[in-house]
Amino acid sequence: MARPKVFVARKLPAVALDAIRAACDADVWPEQLPPSADELKRRVADCDGLVSLLTDRVDAALLDAAPKLKVVSNFAVGFNNVDVAACTARGVCVGNTPGVLTDATADIAVTLLLAAARAIRSGIDDARGGKWLTWEPLGWMGQDLAGRTLGIVGMGRIGYATAKRLHHGWGMKVLYTARGPKPDADRDLGATRVELDELLARSDFVSVHADLNPTTKGLFGADKFGQMKPTAVFVNTSRGPLVDQTALAAALRDGTIFAAGLDVTDPEPLPTSHELYALPNCVIVPHIASATPDTRNAMARLCANNLLAGVKGEALPNWVNPEAGDKRRA
Ligand code: DGY
Repeated sequence: MARPKVFVARKLPAVALDAIRAACDADVWPEQLPPSADELKRRVADCDGLVSLLTDRVDAALLDAAPKLKVVSNFAVGFNNVDVAACTARGVCVGNTPGVLTDATADIAVTLLLAAARAIRSGIDDARGGKWLTWEPLGWMGQDLAGRTLGIVGMGRIGYATAKRLHHGWGMKVLYTARGPKPDADRDLGATRVELDELLARSDFVSVHADLNPTTKGLFGADKFGQMKPTAVFVNTSRGPLVDQTALAAALRDGTIFAAGLDVTDPEPLPTSHELYALPNCVIVPHIASATPDTRNAMARLCANNLLAGVKGEALPNWVNPEAGDKRRA
């Protein structure tokens, strides 16, 4: 029987590539930068499976150019780069990598929160730039963390893990928004579910963990920053397009809020000329939340398992659209 043909849109950890190559004829994109949309279309044209990254757009046009495609295995927990409805309509299964990057992502949320709260960016810049002239009684002031109020926007797995660290580590009170009640957070962290407006008004730290969808795109604009405290620290480890970056830059520049920490931007990479880089109270890192060897290997295993199940016509271990199962491509 012919081996399934798959396109892997980037070099992945060996644990995934070895498993995929053992079972499939794999075409692995060798470049550092993603394939263009046209190149991706050409590569998947006769494939049974695709491993995509969050930088690869999987849309109706791509799916229509790949009539044999049975599975899209996204190497990420987020799948806003994949038109899931278009996949489902065509019987294409979509898989993702939830759970295994929860701790690493929560660690980065806390890292950014601490760095932004304690003016680490301007401290590093000034120490390196010769502006550290003496011990300054009034210099490089940050915000205290102990006992302050944390607002988690989107109390999913990562929101919970972030709140757990800050509640147990720094005794923070936890407010959150979520589509429904979160009894675990209420019980374990003494957390309280509130409306977003109340969360923004009461929180000293606002950490965003909501997924990107039409209702969250552009959620954080001038009005939302205006509702926060002037001492507030804003952290985003979810997706860049949730934030209006022009409004964020204005809020950071004019003191509407104190500081921000961003693991995600829009676009990615954020052009080096962007005004957010020039602001000393903005810490930006290049979407590294899941970047640890253990986490990326665990993501790689899930990703390969989803792909291999999909090409075999089996249930995906982490299946975003099980409803595609009824109309799977033969
Ligand atoms: C994800 O998996 O969605 C992250 O943003 C990438 O690590």
